[in-house]
Parts: sequence; C-alpha cells; structure tokens
Amino acid sequence: MRISRHANTVIVQAPAKLNLFLEIFSRRSDGYHELETLMVAINIYDTLVFTPRSGREVHLSCGWSPGLESRRCAARGAASPWEAIPHGGDNLVLKAIERLREHAGVEMAATINLGKRIPAAAGLGGASSDAAAALAAANAAWNLNWPVERLAEVAAELGSDIPFFLYGGAAVCRGRGEKIEPLGAMPRLDVVVVRPPAGLSTADVYRQCRPADPPRRADEVTQAWQQGRHAWLGRLLHNRLQPAAEQLSPWIARLKQLFQRLDVLGHQMSGSGSSYFALCRNARHARLIAGRLRMLGVGAVYCAASERSRTLGLV
Ligand code: C5P
Repeated sequence: MRISRHANTVIVQAPAKLNLFLEIFSRRSDGYHELETLMVAINIYDTLVFTPRSGREVHLSCGWSPGLESRRCAARGAASPWEAIPHGGDNLVLKAIERLREHAGVEMAATINLGKRIPAAAGLGGASSDAAAALAAANAAWNLNWPVERLAEVAAELGSDIPFFLYGGAAVCRGRGEKIEPLGAMPRLDVVVVRPPAGLSTADVYRQCRPADPPRRADEVTQAWQQGRHAWLGRLLHNRLQPAAEQLSPWIARLKQLFQRLDVLGHQMSGSGSSYFALCRNARHARLIAGRLRMLGVGAVYCAASERSRTLGLV
C-alpha cells in the first residue's frame, strides 16, 4: 500500500495479493477455517482518493479504471472479469469507514473515489485491500493517528484478509487470516496472473474444502521466500483450497493443464480463486509467458511483481 497526501486529500494505492502457500487445519465452531498462509502484495493497484468534507455523510463513487488489460480484453471481445461493484452499504469500503467511526467515536465526513483495477471474485484480495486503504486514508485524513495494530483490530472485524493489507509486503498469516507475522523486504518476484472469465465465491470454496490430514507448515516456503530462492519457492507452492475450487469451476483444472505446459518456476491458484498464477525467472520471462497466455484467450492476463516494501506513510 502506498499512501500520499495532496493538501487535505489522501491517495492510497491498494495492491492485490497472491497466496504462495495456504494450508487449512480445521473448521472452527464459528464457521471459519483455521489456516496458515504466506501472502505477498503485488503491484496491481486499485486507487482510493479520500477527501474529508464537512457534514456527517460519507459518499463513495467507484468504477473500473480502463487499465491496459481491460482494453486488451475489450479489443478481443473476450469475456472479462469486470463485474458489478457494490456501490451502496454493501461495499466493504463504506463498512470499514462506518466501523472506524464507531470505534473512534467520531462523525466525520468524506468523499471517497475508488478506481478499480484488481479483478473481483479472483482470490486477489481486491475488496479487502480497498477496505484497508480506506482505514489508512481515514486515519491520516481525519488525523486519528492510530498505530497500525489498532487499525488492524478494526480491520479484523470486517474481513479475514484486511489486516494483511495494512502491513503490506509479505507476511505469514494465521488464525482465520487476521494474525499477521510480517516478513522483511525481499528480492523482486515476477509473476503472471490470469483471471479467467468466471469468478468464484470465497464462501462456496471454503464450504467445499477439506482440512488437511496431516497438514503442511509454511516454514520451508517462508525460508525460500526470505532467501529469495525463487526456483525452490516454485517447487513449494501449495494451496489446500485448489481441489475444492476445481470442483466448482472448470477453469481451474483448465488453467493448471495450460500452465503445466509452460516453462515456469511453479504455478497454482491464488486464495479461493479463480485467479491462477505462475512464478517467473524475471520480468522479461513474465512478459513472454503473458504473451503466450493472451493468445490462448483465457481471460485477463497480468504481468506483475511483488511490492518492494511494506506499507509506507501509515502514521
Ligand atoms: O473473512 P471474510 O469475510 O473475508 O470471509 C469470507 C468467507 O470465507 C467467510 O464467510 C467464510 O465462509 C470463509 N472463510 C473461512 N475461513 C477463513 C476465511 C474465510 O471459512 N479463514
């Protein structure tokens, strides 16, 4: 996440994420799943512009930003992942601001503009990242000056992935995803991400999944990440939600088969899908792989890389 200020307006670049490892230990009595995941923020961004104003109301406007990939899909007439975004009270950004106002005991107002690029129902954390961006922006614009740990408590009430985005960079996340162990800055990791024409519902995928017996742990994959050994990392990729997602969408197995024929360091689905990604040797290699995938018409194809640093500018 990148935060900047222009007069009293706060602008946040809200990144997507990939899960390099995701293990499910058990189903909890509250319906959530106990898990361990290695998440990495990547440089596909939504942009949130937050301007404080007088009064009590918070106004949100949002729409898809015409990024290069959406133009490419439109040019091909391809089915694309740019679905309706909830504008009203269902939008996680508004829920986050409302919850922050409750916790802070303030009734401050704002106008928020959200430019979306991260595809929805993709396992890339777009809505969660937007919510984290809204919390960070309000914290700065309204001069709340809360530390990240306090914002993360509010974030965890709203969604399991939201606290991660307040820290950014890379982290091992546990519990239902809200317990964050941040990892240090790492060498750049180049990836190609495909969001097929159909998305997946997170709740449906979790409902379908079976906890591991015995479970794997994230120690080795974390070591590979921290040492920047990307070929090793590629061999250790793991996502326990993938078999469940394969039962719900034919796209996952289709993409797996396609990626098996490509010369990449490793590949798998991200989060609860439906996005599928590959680790590449460098940016040039990623562009080559992305070019091949675009010719196959498998949906939106992104070249991306891990964010270089953790969240900057959060007071
Ligand atoms: O926390 P969040 O609202 O993002 O989760 C969406 C849905 O995903 C939950 O309602 C739940 O069905 C499922 N989920 C889960 N276990 C987790 C995280 C999410 O079962 N650790």
